[in-house]
Amino acid sequence: MEAMSIMPTLPKMTIDYSYFINGHSSRRRPGITRELTKKLYNAPKETISLAEGMPNDGSFPFEAINVVLKDGSSYTLQGGELAASLQYIPSQGYPPLLRTLKEFTYYVHEPPNWQNTDIIITNGSQCGISKSIEMCIEEGCPILVQNPLYTGTEIVMKPFRPILLPIEQDEFGVIPEHLVMTLEDWKIRCENDPTIKMPKIFYINPTAANPTGVTIPLDRKKEIYKICCEYNILILEDDAYFFMDFQDTKPVSFLSLDVEGRVLRFDSLSKVLASGLRVGWVTGPKQLIHNIELHIQSAYLHSSSLSQSITYNTFKLWGFDKMLQHFASVSNYYKIRRDLTISSMERHLKGLCDWSIPSGGMFVWIKVRNIPDVYEMLMTRGLKKHVCFAPGQAFMADPTVACSYIRAAYSRATPKQIDKAMRLLAELIREEQALLRRKLDNFI
Ligand SMILES: Cc1ncc(COP(=O)(O)O)c(C=O)c1O
Repeated sequence: MEAMSIMPTLPKMTIDYSYFINGHSSRRRPGITRELTKKLYNAPKETISLAEGMPNDGSFPFEAINVVLKDGSSYTLQGGELAASLQYIPSQGYPPLLRTLKEFTYYVHEPPNWQNTDIIITNGSQCGISKSIEMCIEEGCPILVQNPLYTGTEIVMKPFRPILLPIEQDEFGVIPEHLVMTLEDWKIRCENDPTIKMPKIFYINPTAANPTGVTIPLDRKKEIYKICCEYNILILEDDAYFFMDFQDTKPVSFLSLDVEGRVLRFDSLSKVLASGLRVGWVTGPKQLIHNIELHIQSAYLHSSSLSQSITYNTFKLWGFDKMLQHFASVSNYYKIRRDLTISSMERHLKGLCDWSIPSGGMFVWIKVRNIPDVYEMLMTRGLKKHVCFAPGQAFMADPTVACSYIRAAYSRATPKQIDKAMRLLAELIREEQALLRRKLDNFI
């Protein structure tokens, strides 16, 4: 795979991961009984355990769970496998799924630093993102974020009152020159004031980003990776839409470029298998994965065994290639929706708005002309017209600043509804522009 030869000139740096782990996280210690659960999972069958506080699965009222897939195939969870699917499991994940996802991650990304890499299964990728941020963040510290960004990240950071350093994006995503400029400016501030620290983490959503729909091309990823190496920055690669990129050339992940071990990658099955299963996983340096595991232990012991078992059995039934074919068919489903959404926008919003065509995912990011702040228009008059779009403010590093962008999701509404929504949006914009003109006339 190309990834192995991607960064041949970089001198390999030994990373001190304790630099990225805050006091809170570094003070966590494994629970002894949880460690026993991990050890006993692989212990010889004759081992008698009176150690664990597990309920007796014979008391559970479930006899069998039959899973029927839309392609007509099926499997049944019963006997020992059902018992394991309903029982407590090690915090890192259901061992058969853990093995499968490790192999799958290697199959897809071939991470160059694989021997120092581990994974952990999480309750969706959101859980991995929040646990990782909470491992690294310190009160009032600077954090690099792509701007605009997925709101689920901002709400994790906010309680720590961080200084978000927004990195601007263009039609190819995060702009490397702006990243360097921001880091250099910040370095000067650090040199002038020893209480100020350099940012340690950079949150990036590289494929079909939420909300912009932009995918960062490989060349730009290489530049960004190199900059992060130079400034000793850990990349939080939130790639929830990795399998939903519509372009012919499939994206190469930061994990595939990661010769140094400075990427924590978040994968999600929410969009390509089922969101309610809540199955995601984090891949990254072993030491960081271990700290995330301790946090999960302390928060909820482990992600749902049943969801993990269903995921494992679906992987087992289909194998990697058929699973990837399924992901591709989901991606194609959304591509068709993207195309019809863009046609509706061409029909109704031409001259009123600007947009670029999303390279994947579920969203189109729309800039409204001549309306500096779309919030009231959408949240009051829009809802009265029974149409709902997300105001751009929700995704900005500073949501207090007026914003002329709108995020439209084309994932669930029917084509007819999408067309009607775009027609109503056009009406709303015309009315709002008239309102603004009247206000201006009265002012003059
Ligand atoms: C960019 C991004 N990251 C992460 C998530 C969380 O996904 P999950 O369901 O895997 O927790 C979402 C969900 O919409 C998202 O858009």
